[in-house]
Amino acid sequence: MRDTEKETELSALPNVVKLKLDISEPLQIQDVVEKFLSGEQVDVVFNNAGYLLAGPMEGITDEQLVSQITTNLLGPIRVTQVFIPHFREKKGGLFINTTSMSALIASPFMSVYSASKAGLEHWSFAMNLELGKFGIRVKTIIPGISKTNLLSNADKASSVPYTEFMNKVLSTFTGPEILTIAFTPEDIAKVVFEAATTPVVAGILLD
Ligand SMILES: NC(=O)c1ccc[n+]([C@@H]2O[C@H](COP(=O)([O-])OP(=O)(O)OC[C@H]3O[C@@H](n4cnc5c(N)ncnc54)[C@H](OP(=O)(O)O)[C@@H]3O)[C@@H](O)[C@H]2O)c1
Repeated sequence: MRDTEKETELSALPNVVKLKLDISEPLQIQDVVEKFLSGEQVDVVFNNAGYLLAGPMEGITDEQLVSQITTNLLGPIRVTQVFIPHFREKKGGLFINTTSMSALIASPFMSVYSASKAGLEHWSFAMNLELGKFGIRVKTIIPGISKTNLLSNADKASSVPYTEFMNKVLSTFTGPEILTIAFTPEDIAKVVFEAATTPVVAGILLD
């Protein structure tokens, strides 16, 4: 995580080591993962970090655009890339990547987020085929709306002609109706745990 001091729940658990890492920084990824692997074996890599860029395309700056793709798409790709030789040498390992229903169902004002998640979903599928013969699997978790800080942490863009429509759309993600069906972090954690501990019973292995 970017700020290891901020997190307190994990610190209360035994056998948890927190490492500082910003996945938008390629050199940091390389450095942190290589140092970690020099002393530890890894079985599962869970690429979960990400954020939402919300707003009309007309109001999104190039910096916001690049930052969204760098974190949500290139971040997990780069983290995975550094772990691949470790998994290949030990003839096994699992990557779990968090994508989103936004990868499958389009919504206005989340276009770049959707593109980042759809890219990650499809890339993960391809990597599962590429790495399968080395005993390495790649799975994705595709959450629907969940009660986390995603919306409050969102990077928001705006453009006057879209304001009314955008507020209407975004309010549907926070309204009382949606909260009754939204997942909790515990729901998602159960699925991640199952993905991490259930062997793949069907898959395609290309040789
Ligand atoms: N909530 C939903 O409705 C929903 C639905 C579908 C998919 N998802 C996906 O679920 C994943 C988790 O998000 P969440 O809902 O739990 O939102 P969240 O509460 O905002 O948590 C996002 C986490 O990602 C971390 N992060 C963001 N950018 C990072 C970076 N550059 N380097 C390292 N860590 C970074 C944040 O760390 P900091 O504390 O440092 O900011 C935070 O811990 C994301 O990939 C999100 O896209 C969420």
